[in-house]
Amino acid sequence: MILDSGCGEGYYTSGLFHALTQAGLTPATAGVDLSKFALRRAAKRLPQGEFAVASVYHLPLSPSSVDLLVNIFSPLAAEEFARVVRPGGWFCYAVPSPRHLWEMKQILYPQPYENPVKQEEYPGFTWQSAQKVQGTIHLSCREDILALFGITPYAWKTPKAGRDQLAKLEELDTAIGFGLHWYQRVTDQ
Ligand SMILES: C[S@@+](CC[C@H](N)C(=O)[O-])C[C@H]1O[C@@H](n2cnc3c(N)ncnc32)[C@H](O)[C@@H]1O
Repeated sequence: MILDSGCGEGYYTSGLFHALTQAGLTPATAGVDLSKFALRRAAKRLPQGEFAVASVYHLPLSPSSVDLLVNIFSPLAAEEFARVVRPGGWFCYAVPSPRHLWEMKQILYPQPYENPVKQEEYPGFTWQSAQKVQGTIHLSCREDILALFGITPYAWKTPKAGRDQLAKLEELDTAIGFGLHWYQRVTDQ
């Protein structure tokens, strides 16, 4: 089974399911999130999926029942992930790269900082590899700029001056970048 932990509206849950289906597989796919509203959208996007309102810290799953757990910009519950991922199974952790949304941050802050990136070890897992995903996006109107800003952590902590600067923009090109870190569940002795 594939579990999207903190799946939100199921964008990646659905992407994974369809990519694997196209590759000839028939993955049982599930998602959990605290937001009932987001899950309603996820269930519409992927009617084949199983979605449940739950905390990532208390997953409603039996031990060793998950083959692949993905965590994309959602809270990390490493101990709980180790409980549900089967020995030999996988945990994929997406983290922002140092200059993710750099040009947006240059507008928001006089001295933007790079995201700290360290390769963490989690008990019960062995880090295996990381893949970089990088690009630039073009936002062509204020609504899109503010919508993107609104789903970032900066929406909670940017001083008014920075928000005002951003709200003046009619378009924005900004870098995006992620690291996909692959961890394998160790086989219990
Ligand atoms: C930034 S969104 C990412 C959503 C999705 N993974 C994506 O990339 O589209 C973070 C999600 O984590 C969920 N979330 C936050 N805390 C949570 C928790 N303790 N348990 C379950 N979900 C949580 C939020 O409701 C939100 O949908």
